[in-house]
Amino acid sequence: MTHQSNISHKKKVTASAPGKLMIMGEHAVVYGYPCIVSAVNKYLTVKINISKEKKDIIITPGFSDNRFVKEALISFRDKFSLKESIVLKTRSELGNFGLGSSAAVTVAILKALAKIFSLPLSRKELFNFAYKIVQKVQGIGSGFDVAAAIYGGTIYFSKRGEVIESLPTSGMNLVVGYSGVKAETVSLVNLVRQKRRDYPKGIEEIFRNIAELVEKAKMAILTKDWERLGTLMNFNQDYLENLGVSNEKLNSMILAAKNAGAYGAKLSGAGGGDCMIALVSKKTEDSIKKAIEKVGGEMVDVKVGTEGVKIEQ
Ligand code: MEV
Repeated sequence: MTHQSNISHKKKVTASAPGKLMIMGEHAVVYGYPCIVSAVNKYLTVKINISKEKKDIIITPGFSDNRFVKEALISFRDKFSLKESIVLKTRSELGNFGLGSSAAVTVAILKALAKIFSLPLSRKELFNFAYKIVQKVQGIGSGFDVAAAIYGGTIYFSKRGEVIESLPTSGMNLVVGYSGVKAETVSLVNLVRQKRRDYPKGIEEIFRNIAELVEKAKMAILTKDWERLGTLMNFNQDYLENLGVSNEKLNSMILAAKNAGAYGAKLSGAGGGDCMIALVSKKTEDSIKKAIEKVGGEMVDVKVGTEGVKIEQ
């Protein structure tokens, strides 16, 4: 598609995309199985304006990895044959907790560029475009984080994004604990891939079992059966331990949450670090938070089910 330079474009645009928390189905989702993911109320904001300079100016405080930013710009320019230089600034509330900043920054940049150049990009097109960029940079990934950044809320995600269904979030009360260690997503996905090569039958069976739990979890969310969802999360955690992606710190935080009365608890994401989540009632929330902190977890104050990417007015 060629961009007509006589299309009037906006001078300045700000877009923000939310981070995510994996509720259930990590790792299996990489192989096309379903997962459930929620967007969280921490945002990655991108401000773009068109500049008269020859070169782009990119300011990304706190970002150690600019590959997603650069690739998003290159891909967008290629797709729409754009020549203009821009000034791009990011601001992140996502921290280093594994809340999905790569997907959020990619989505927010594409959304802002589409707006500033008045180019139509449906949610589905935005998903396909952003997922391709994340895949190109990272080499792996199911795209669930890209979908969460775009669609927001809580979603059932399957077949690498062919199926994206919105689920209700209200009443789903989660407590999030950071383990203090940054997860190495790519190495963990590769570790599971190697296990799948070495033990194809066993690992595939684990994935199928996880998928079955996800289907049941979808029903539990639809019927707001939190006790059942908690039990399903606990089973999911057992399978993740079998896959070898949990660690002692996460296990002790999960156990502490369960002992303090959580409906269920599990790691969230690739494992090996980052965060654990516990499903709690309003009544048990405070004591569960204290129990997690007591074993060295850091509480991350987020709410699930927030809106997807949007243009700030
Ligand atoms: C990482 O947050 C979740 C994984 O399933 C990888 C992915 O789906 O891209 C391990």
